[in-house]
Amino acid sequence: MNNSDIRVMLEESEVDARIGDLGAQISKDYEGSELHIICILKGGVFFACELAKRITVPVSIDFMYVSSYGNSTVSSGNVKIVKDLDESIEGKNVLIVEDIIDSGRTLHHLLPILKGRKPKKIEICTLLSKPERREFDIDVKYVGFKIPDEFVVGYGLDFEQKYRNLPYIGVVETEE
Ligand code: IMP
Ligand code: MG
Repeated sequence: MNNSDIRVMLEESEVDARIGDLGAQISKDYEGSELHIICILKGGVFFACELAKRITVPVSIDFMYVSSYGNSTVSSGNVKIVKDLDESIEGKNVLIVEDIIDSGRTLHHLLPILKGRKPKKIEICTLLSKPERREFDIDVKYVGFKIPDEFVVGYGLDFEQKYRNLPYIGVVETEE
């Protein structure tokens, strides 16, 4: 499969413009204070970098790698922290930066863990959201784009670890 099998859903220029809007909004909301970004690996990294560049208040950044178990019948430990944060978030204005919120499972399990570490404030910013797919109610403050229920790649999002580097959001067209 090569890149010609990708149908563009959101052009690079649209994504860039929307990240600019989000950056401006966040800069306004946090005026006079500082922001600690938690980038959720791997998918969130492209968006987090572009967003951080457009925020005008002082920013620090840390990374977390979590894997969520798909099976909702597992009663505990539904999210596995593969790589934890390097720094404490206590007393900080935390902004979780995600590539996409799909079922909401990952954040549903991660949020209480992070809230337990006593940040001053914690909000979520996601580039994409698929509202139709939501199984867990998550309060998301900043959403780049609401998209229909299609599997997308690019801008950090992968299909079998590929296509993360595409500078736009596309849909993988599978061959019949
Ligand atoms: P959740 O269902 O909200 O927990 O989303 C879990 C993760 O699934 C996201 O962080 C993405 O890494 C991945 N994911 C969900 N939808 C897509 C998609 O359309 N393309 C690529 N990855 C996706
Ligand atoms: Mg992912």
